[in-house]
Amino acid sequence: MTSFTLLLWISFGIAVQLGLLVAIAFWRHWQGYSALRGRVADADPAVVPGIPEEPEGALVAAWSGLRDFKVARKEVEDAARGICSFYLVPEDGKPLPAYLPGQFLTFRLDVPAAGGSEQIVRCYSLSDAPQPDHYRVSIKRVLTPIGSGLPPGCSSGFFHDQVEVGSRLQLRAPAGHFHLDSGSGPVVLIGSGIGITPMLSMLNWSLAQQPGREIWLFYGARNGREAIMAPHLQSLAAQYANFHLHLCFSDPLPAEQAGRDYHHHGRVEVALLRMELPLKPYHYYICGPTPMMASLVPALDDWGVADSHIHFEAFGPASIKRRRVATAAAGATPVPMAGDIVVSFARSGKQLNWDASAGSLLAFAEANGIAVDSGCRAGGCGTCQTSIAAGEVAYGQPPDFDPEPGTCLLCVCTPKTSVTLEA
Ligand code: FES
Repeated sequence: MTSFTLLLWISFGIAVQLGLLVAIAFWRHWQGYSALRGRVADADPAVVPGIPEEPEGALVAAWSGLRDFKVARKEVEDAARGICSFYLVPEDGKPLPAYLPGQFLTFRLDVPAAGGSEQIVRCYSLSDAPQPDHYRVSIKRVLTPIGSGLPPGCSSGFFHDQVEVGSRLQLRAPAGHFHLDSGSGPVVLIGSGIGITPMLSMLNWSLAQQPGREIWLFYGARNGREAIMAPHLQSLAAQYANFHLHLCFSDPLPAEQAGRDYHHHGRVEVALLRMELPLKPYHYYICGPTPMMASLVPALDDWGVADSHIHFEAFGPASIKRRRVATAAAGATPVPMAGDIVVSFARSGKQLNWDASAGSLLAFAEANGIAVDSGCRAGGCGTCQTSIAAGEVAYGQPPDFDPEPGTCLLCVCTPKTSVTLEA
C-alpha cells in the first residue's frame, strides 16, 4: 500500500466517522422535536389554574353593558411621550374578573366635538397580566400622517390630553379571541410598535403562571425613544432562563449600541426568526401594524408553519389574509360574481348592486349614504351589529366580537349571497 492510498483510507475513515456523528446528532434532535410536538398536541387543551377554561368559560363577559371606572394612575411610557398607560379601577369597588392574556377592553367615550360632545367607541388591548383590582391599557397617540390630510386619532388624543387621574370612563368587559393558550408548548411573541401591548399581557402572565414554558419575544420599534418598558423586559430576560428577548430597532439612535441597547438592527422578519429560533413547533402570536402583518403572516405560511400555529391581531384584522386558507376557500365553493349580489337596506329603502371594491358592508353602506353606527371598524366592539332579514354574509376571519344569531358585523363582513339588512 502506498502512502497515498493509506492517506485516502484514513480520510475515508474520518469522513465515515463524521457522517455517523452528524446522523446521530440529527436523529437525537429529531427525536426531541417529535417528543415535544407530541407534548404540545397533548398539552394544548390543558387548562392552567387561575385562567378560565377556554373557549366558553373564558369568553363569558363578566358584566354586561357598561361599567364605570376611574383612572387611578396615568404614566407616560416612552421618551418620545407617544405612549401612555392608564390604570383603571372600578367605581363600585368590587373585584374584577380575570381575562385571557391578549384580550382587550371596549371604551365608550364622550369626546369634544363641534357644538358639544360626540360618543365614540374604541377598543384597546390590556397591557398587563390579569390583576384582581385594576386593569391597565397603554395607548399610543395617533398623529396625522404627514401630508395625508387625515385628522389625528380623536380617541387617542382624548386619552393623552384630557383623561387624567380621577377621570371617569365607561367600559365593557374584557373580550377578544386573540389570547395566549394555556398549554405548555413553546411560543414566540412578536409585537411591533403599539402591537407590543397584548404581548406584554401574555408575557407577564406566562412567566408568572407557566413556570419553565419556553417563550421568545421579538419586539420591533424604531429605537429606544419609542420602545416601551425595555428595562422591565430586560430585567425579566435576566431573571428567567426560559425567556428570550430580542429587541429589533429599525432606526437606532446614534448613541445606541447593538448588543447593549438592542439586539438586531432592522424589522422583525422571517429571516431573523429562522436565524434565531431552534427547530421546534412554536406557536406564533403576532400583533402590529397592517403592512408588517401583511408580509409576516404569509411569510410564516411559506416557511411551513401550520395555520393552527399562527395567531394574529392587526390594526384592521380583516385586511390580513392567510394564503392557504384563502386558496382552499377559493377552491371549495363557487363565489357568486359581485354583480349578481344585491344588498337591500330595509330601513333606508335602498337596493344596490354589491361592489366588492368597498371591502366591507359598512364601507359600502357609507359610500351609498346609509348611516350606520360604528366604533372600532375591526370586528371588536359590536357597535355596527346589524340584523340580517334574508341572505348570508361571510367573514375573512372570525371577528373578536361574537355577533348575536341573526345579526352580522358590517365592518368586517361581505355578502355571500344577496342580502337584506335592517339598516
Ligand atoms: S365597528 Fe366595532 S365591530 Fe364593527
